[in-house]
Amino acid sequence: MKQSILSLLSPDYPWKDLLHCYACLPSTNDHLKHLARQGAPEGTAILAASQTGGHGRMGRSFHSPEGTGVYLSVLLRPQCPPARLMHLTCAVGVAMCDAVESVTGARPGIKWINDLVFQGRKVGGILTELGLTPDGNVDFAVIGIGINCCQTPEDFPPELRTIAGSLSMAVGAPVSPAEMAAAMLRSLASLSAALLPCQASLMAQYRRDCITLNREVTLLRGEERRQGFALDVDDSGALLVVFPDGHREAVNSGEASVRGLSGYL
Ligand code: BTN
Repeated sequence: MKQSILSLLSPDYPWKDLLHCYACLPSTNDHLKHLARQGAPEGTAILAASQTGGHGRMGRSFHSPEGTGVYLSVLLRPQCPPARLMHLTCAVGVAMCDAVESVTGARPGIKWINDLVFQGRKVGGILTELGLTPDGNVDFAVIGIGINCCQTPEDFPPELRTIAGSLSMAVGAPVSPAEMAAAMLRSLASLSAALLPCQASLMAQYRRDCITLNREVTLLRGEERRQGFALDVDDSGALLVVFPDGHREAVNSGEASVRGLSGYL
């Protein structure tokens, strides 16, 4: 896998020496956080052919079987306070839409805040995690992405079968995990330069990609379920929701997630 990915990366890809591939890890994010604390440089990338404990936002697990998906984590070291990275997950979402489009010719949508969606099915997810220095600045950002490339519906466990999909199911053609991984690495290398200076344009693109906007949504916050209408996403990635009594809330992704009125979308 490593050689085929490296052969797909152009000579100007800056982090060729920092790609580490494994057959199986508990979680590429957890592995990379460990390396980050030991001083690994920006651009360090961990790719696993499968994960036994892949996880997502809010403690949810991420199904990571061998050979059909890309499970990738990449380390960035932006020099800024954490408040300057509120848009990180959204920006990665846009970068991953670019990567998928470059490989498949079709652009997925993003279900707020971090799900990549094709034809009503989740084909990927993003988990960004920050480490801070003792004085409260960003020490590292671990960007974890899982993308389902070539599963068939039967490859998913029964409880995911109506929700999950793969790129090949969406576009009706095989999608190579190695090609997808190379495209994701390229997109993340470009994003590392654009992340801080181009926040407004990244968020403008996020609003175009986000399929949650202008829809009725169910807002999930702990045990609480509330229905509202998703109006906008602000430049920090918060979802602006208006409720039936007319009041509005900017909902932070750390505290809530959304569903459609009758299911996942
Ligand atoms: C989500 O759906 O909430 C996000 C899923 C993120 C999964 C990826 S797979 C690679 C990396 N390692 C993990 O344990 N999680 C991320």
